[in-house]
Amino acid sequence: MTAAVAEALPAYFDFVRRLVAERAAIVLDATKLYLVDARVMPVAARHGFDSIAAMVSAIRSRPFGLIHEEIIEALTTNETSFFRDVTPFEALKKTILPELIQKRGAQRELSIWSAACSSGQELYSIALMLRESFPTLGSWKVNLLGTDYSTQMIERAASAVYNQSEVNRGLPASYLVKYFQRQGLQWRLSDSIRTMTTWRRLNLIEPWSSVVAPMDVVFLRNVLIYFSPDDKKKVLAQVRKVLRPDGCMFLGGAETTMKLDDSFERFPCDGAVCYRLKGGCT
Ligand SMILES: C[S@@+](CC[C@H](N)C(=O)[O-])C[C@H]1O[C@@H](n2cnc3c(N)ncnc32)[C@H](O)[C@@H]1O
Repeated sequence: MTAAVAEALPAYFDFVRRLVAERAAIVLDATKLYLVDARVMPVAARHGFDSIAAMVSAIRSRPFGLIHEEIIEALTTNETSFFRDVTPFEALKKTILPELIQKRGAQRELSIWSAACSSGQELYSIALMLRESFPTLGSWKVNLLGTDYSTQMIERAASAVYNQSEVNRGLPASYLVKYFQRQGLQWRLSDSIRTMTTWRRLNLIEPWSSVVAPMDVVFLRNVLIYFSPDDKKKVLAQVRKVLRPDGCMFLGGAETTMKLDDSFERFPCDGAVCYRLKGGCT
């Protein structure tokens, strides 16, 4: 950001920008002033301030607390849908899972992680696919973990309740009929699928590689896009430590490991782009 642009911005913007960058790695440039205004004003109003400027001057010198956390939560972008982008799920179903099932036949255990899971549709899409297409896994230990920075999102994901427009986005009608029950204006996913999953709050830029178990598949989609190159590198370095040598990672369509971490190699798979560790067995 040039000095002239920074000077033209309201002082509260710099405070908010630094707060989300330091705590959650989310980068907000000057073009995101409108986003800060739209999303942070409700936080200010909730806490009795008549402007963001008034709230920021009150909390500027306070230790990190509830309001700071609410500001960060408000600035996470939680866009997601069932079977988003389709091809990663196709690759998982047609190639990645059949191969992993063969290799893990002795241990009968599989671990899949949706890192930055938002309201949970990504991990539930995987759970639904496993139940529909891989009945043999019924007798395996299958660990499906969803994590996100946002406590609100983790609570939503764990509740497994979605509104009409959410179930209209990407979810096959046959799955809606078979696995969801209507609850007023909402739809509740059946316990038989919900209980396949575990949900935890996790900040990707804090150290976590010692607390996340080794993973066979990592979905790290549409989150690195918000981070600086340095923070992307830090996250990928941690993924490297938890991804099994023959495991695979999916990124979002606008994301890559190129120029960030050359220990990963990309390979095309059923129309999707997957990443694996170089030198890992395939
Ligand atoms: C656009 S959603 C992606 C959801 C899903 N992976 C998908 O592709 O549909 C991005 C998610 O990243 C989460 N996020 C942002 N910064 C994070 C951080 N530092 N650690 C963990 N999650 C973060 C947000 O809370 C948000 O739910």
